[in-house]
Amino acid sequence: MKSAEFDRLKKMVDHHILDYLPEIDPKSKTLRDAMSYSLTAGGKRLRPVLFLYAMEFCGAQSVESGLPFACAIEYIQTYSLIHDDLPAMDDDDLRRGRPTNHKVFGEAMAILAGDGLLSSAYEVMTKNMLHYLDNEEELKRRVRAAYAVSKGTGVRGMVAGQVADVENEDKLCSAEMLDYIHDNKTAAFIRACVLAGGYFAGGGRERMEALRSYGNDLGLAFQIMDDVQDVIGDAAKMGKSTGKDARDNKNTYPSIYGLEASKEKCLQLIKRARDIMARYYDEAEVFNDILDYVEESLG
Ligand code: IPE
Ligand code: IPE
Ligand code: MG
Ligand code: MG
Ligand code: MG
Repeated sequence: MKSAEFDRLKKMVDHHILDYLPEIDPKSKTLRDAMSYSLTAGGKRLRPVLFLYAMEFCGAQSVESGLPFACAIEYIQTYSLIHDDLPAMDDDDLRRGRPTNHKVFGEAMAILAGDGLLSSAYEVMTKNMLHYLDNEEELKRRVRAAYAVSKGTGVRGMVAGQVADVENEDKLCSAEMLDYIHDNKTAAFIRACVLAGGYFAGGGRERMEALRSYGNDLGLAFQIMDDVQDVIGDAAKMGKSTGKDARDNKNTYPSIYGLEASKEKCLQLIKRARDIMARYYDEAEVFNDILDYVEESLG
């Protein structure tokens, strides 16, 4: 991402990513090491930055107050990748430029590190809410934000998408099922991050609607781009291996529509998302920056 504001928000997340993790008993040191290993391996921090920027977009003067939620979002993102890479799922060796969690800590610990990150995310968000029990407005905003994140990443969102992704391996699924997979495994979380930022900052109806549409389009465009990169991308640059989708007979945009039509569909979604944000000019700088990144990543 090219904007200074993306970079500023990303640095805030990177700087504080371990600060909100619950204290872990020294007897469980391996768990903490495994969680930290994947959290500090890099990553674009796209989702927490989307959350923080949506706060700004909805009028937050300072985004510091949103940092615990932003880090919680990155805990969920990191857990989802650790589990996605497991031998029983996508069986990957490389993630964020490092050997995958299970390659270093073993399968059992990778499963538990994912569990630990997921439950820490809710511990961090609810602990933050406890500070606001006497401030109904601030408490409501946090409850709405946490609900959006849990819905987007749970059994009506990311987990459902991952189930459909796995169940449809080795068979050709319908176009409708492919969209169900992509909408759930990826778009639901991305949409939830921008909506949660909006709720957290008390965003008005019009901006919340813009966030919803933008989140939907970016979310689907992002997964199509990821599918395209799996075919044509540079593993060293991406920090993860390529060609895995074909190896595993995954249903992807390129496998069903071909590369060119996939890029075309992705560009249409990017254009629609840009149109949604056009009326906000500079106030949508980071949202546009991310769309530029997705477009450039199409090769
Ligand atoms: C990877 O997400 C999983 C997909 C939904 C394609 P990212 O590409 O955002 O991964 P990190 O967080 O930067 O590692
Ligand atoms: C994963 O999609 C989406 C998740 C919910 C983690 P992929 O399986 O295509 O993601 P990568 O390519 O391994 O990052
Ligand atoms: Mg997968
Ligand atoms: Mg994968
Ligand atoms: Mg992929």
